Amino acid sequence: MKFSRRTDWNTEESALAKAHRERVRARLPVADLTASNPTRCGFAYDAQLLEPLTNQSALDYDPQPLGLLRSREAVCAYYADHGFAVSPDRVVLTTSTSEAYSFLFKLLCDPGGEILVPQPGYPLFDFLAVLDDVRIKGAPLVYDHGWQIDPESFGRAISDETRAIVLVHPNNPTGHFTKRWEAEELAKLCREREIALIVDEVFLDYAFGAERATSFAAGLEGVDVYAVSGLSKIAGLPQMKAAWIVASGSHAADAMARLEVIADTFLSMNAPVQGAMSAWLEGRGKIQKQIKERVEANLAELDRQLADLSIVRRLEVEGGWYAVLRIPALQPDETTALELLERGVWVHPGYFFGMEEKGWLVVSLLGPVEQFRTGVKAIVDYFRTHQPDNNCLVSIEP
Ligand SMILES: Cc1ncc(COP(=O)(O)O)c(C=O)c1O
Repeated sequence: MKFSRRTDWNTEESALAKAHRERVRARLPVADLTASNPTRCGFAYDAQLLEPLTNQSALDYDPQPLGLLRSREAVCAYYADHGFAVSPDRVVLTTSTSEAYSFLFKLLCDPGGEILVPQPGYPLFDFLAVLDDVRIKGAPLVYDHGWQIDPESFGRAISDETRAIVLVHPNNPTGHFTKRWEAEELAKLCREREIALIVDEVFLDYAFGAERATSFAAGLEGVDVYAVSGLSKIAGLPQMKAAWIVASGSHAADAMARLEVIADTFLSMNAPVQGAMSAWLEGRGKIQKQIKERVEANLAELDRQLADLSIVRRLEVEGGWYAVLRIPALQPDETTALELLERGVWVHPGYFFGMEEKGWLVVSLLGPVEQFRTGVKAIVDYFRTHQPDNNCLVSIEP
């Protein structure tokens, strides 16, 4: 029997994953600074949260490919709260943002089609793309007092096979929002090359401070924009499997007709969750408040502990659940992550998010404050004893 080439993955456990598994099995302490699952981070969820699932109306199976109208209206109400008018006939519900990407890749790409994705970025793209026979092309972000796109490198990366540019707004893990000038540059490229813009806004509501971010769901002049988001981050409910795509632009009506056929082929949304979506979206404020307070407290704790350690720098961050650390690039980041794990803290090496050069760690700001404090202390202690010594970079035996 032969398997498909697209599933020809190296499924061997990485050295880091193995070390983590063994440490957990040995019951040694691990401060988890990779946490991304809000249901395991000690937040208080409303006891009534599951009540809408028992609504008798869910006993009726009304297969609507785009999703039930009242659930799509709930998505529109979310955007109305942000000041954007979205029509329910431009919304398609999906079981996850991942499924939304898969629908969009099917909609926009033939096999071998290319999607441009900023690097560093969300690591799941590679797998999502391969499963739809699509190629991901990285376009490097530049860091200079904050992350930004380099329009020239985006322009150069576009080929005849390119069908869309993906933006994550704010980006994971860099935590920067797309600025107006960046949106204009990308819109220009999309118009010139007749390609679409996919904007992932799962972290939209997690801007640091009081600032409210602008959504792309209402569209961009002259560009076909597909905004994707979902309950996993917006309502802190990854287990409920509910997300969506909002289509805008001059081809939106045709796109919706095609998306309807894609969605009809799977009909993957279940009725009870669709019925509960409006209640969960309306109630998002409570969990968002807890998550925001947590990530902001952890960011402040990170800065406090790093204040007198000049060799580790926390990069500018504007939103999301992560912080990027610049560390001395003296050895592979995986080695550093392994050595940190031996000291009881689990962090992501930069390559996990597509950072090609060494010298980067990524920490999640989502975990409980006490655990976070312990983890950062282990990082600080580690780097205090691993200061680069300029006088003896190379030791030569006589
Ligand atoms: C940028 C980004 N998009 C999408 C997702 C996943 O969303 P979902 O659970 O809806 O598939 C994540 C998860 O971490 C993410 O970081």
